[in-house]
Amino acid sequence: MSETWAPSSWRDRPAEQQPDWPDPAALEAVLQDIRRLPPLVFAGEARALKKSLGRVAGGEAFLLQAGDCAEAFGDFSADSIRDKLKIILQMAVVLTYGAGLPVVKVGRIAGQFAKPRSSPQESVGEVELPSFRGHAVNDIVFDETSRRADPTRLVRAYHQSAATLNLIRAFTKGGFADLRRIHVWNQEFVAQSSQGQRYEAIARQIDRALRFMEACGVDLGSDSSIHEVDFYTSHEALLLNYEEALTREDSLTGEWYDCSAHMLWVGERTRDLDHAHVEFLSGIHNPVAVKLGPAVTPDQVLELCDRLDPHREPGRLTLITRLGSQAIEEVLPPLVRAVRDAERSLVWACDPMHANTFATKSGLKTRRFDDILSEIKSFFLVHQNEGTVPGGVHLELTHEDVTECLGGGDEILDEHLTRSYQALCDPRLNARQSVDLAFLLGEMLQS
Ligand code: PEP
Ligand code: CO
Repeated sequence: MSETWAPSSWRDRPAEQQPDWPDPAALEAVLQDIRRLPPLVFAGEARALKKSLGRVAGGEAFLLQAGDCAEAFGDFSADSIRDKLKIILQMAVVLTYGAGLPVVKVGRIAGQFAKPRSSPQESVGEVELPSFRGHAVNDIVFDETSRRADPTRLVRAYHQSAATLNLIRAFTKGGFADLRRIHVWNQEFVAQSSQGQRYEAIARQIDRALRFMEACGVDLGSDSSIHEVDFYTSHEALLLNYEEALTREDSLTGEWYDCSAHMLWVGERTRDLDHAHVEFLSGIHNPVAVKLGPAVTPDQVLELCDRLDPHREPGRLTLITRLGSQAIEEVLPPLVRAVRDAERSLVWACDPMHANTFATKSGLKTRRFDDILSEIKSFFLVHQNEGTVPGGVHLELTHEDVTECLGGGDEILDEHLTRSYQALCDPRLNARQSVDLAFLLGEMLQS
């Protein structure tokens, strides 16, 4: 952190990907309101996640960070939040069982409402309008009113995040995440598939192990590791006005925390060392992450480490590589070596989604399950070769039965994509593909 860091010091630097708010006074009024609203997460929780990520960096745990590319204002019911949780709990069971490692669970949830775009404008025929930037900014409907940046959406994003978190806390601490309810996490349309049946087989074995422990006199009801789960939230810290408004001084330590989520990351498009987003992240004490695309250099990575983790704090920094299945084996080794040789301990996570996206002939954005798998395999291979720790994965997925990514056990083909394509932004793995991937990941971790 620089001597002069403050929650607002990013304002002195260029900030990419900020919306064109048409009415600055309206924006300021909204921010004024948000500054007075209670924090969404607490500093102590962010510190607990940092501690867990420290274990990930040391190879004693595995990070599963996953969720929607963009959360939607319309997709907001108790059932949908419960099911989003189910799929992550289910994957975590498969991974823990396969790898014998604790899984640190972090959702792209309860705040993932803002998107960076490759172009600020979108054209349809003769009409040009501002691009969709996520529900915290505007609406995806292609008309002038919907696409205008509306700051009252920031307040709505805050409230939806609060309500989502409230349910997550209830589900994870109030019995739903109890290991003895492991069968309930298998959604019906998953349970019928071969992946679902494979999951059931594990679940039955876990059941037997729990019954055995109970028979031996272990009181499972009083053991919080059996009936509670730690689940953390994360999103891209893109809209710096909003993040600043939720940045609060921790009364215990006097340190600043961005209380909009436990973990915040900067994206591939906003990770310039001297610009606003990195400045903002450098001063908050949450665990933070940076996305790294294929053009990144080892020097840039080391500079990001110095800037974002100057005190070499365990669990502070996660580097999320999104290099593409073709480029990863060439690009990743020099990055990993540079960090290893600088004797830095941090979390390496693989985002196998964002550099494997392409558009089909009909113009739909998609990804191939095989490319996703191949990038993860290469990620493990590189870390094995370099003697470093493949710490985790960062995935875009949904609990729903969508057809957005090609392949997988379902063998989704080009012509199937339109059947149930619901993504607001990037294509997500559906629940069956996700469980499938968890099994394959578990096997990789085992070996
Ligand atoms: C994302 O995570 O949705 C995203 C936009 O990623 P990236 O910054 O890696 O492109
Ligand atoms: Co995305």
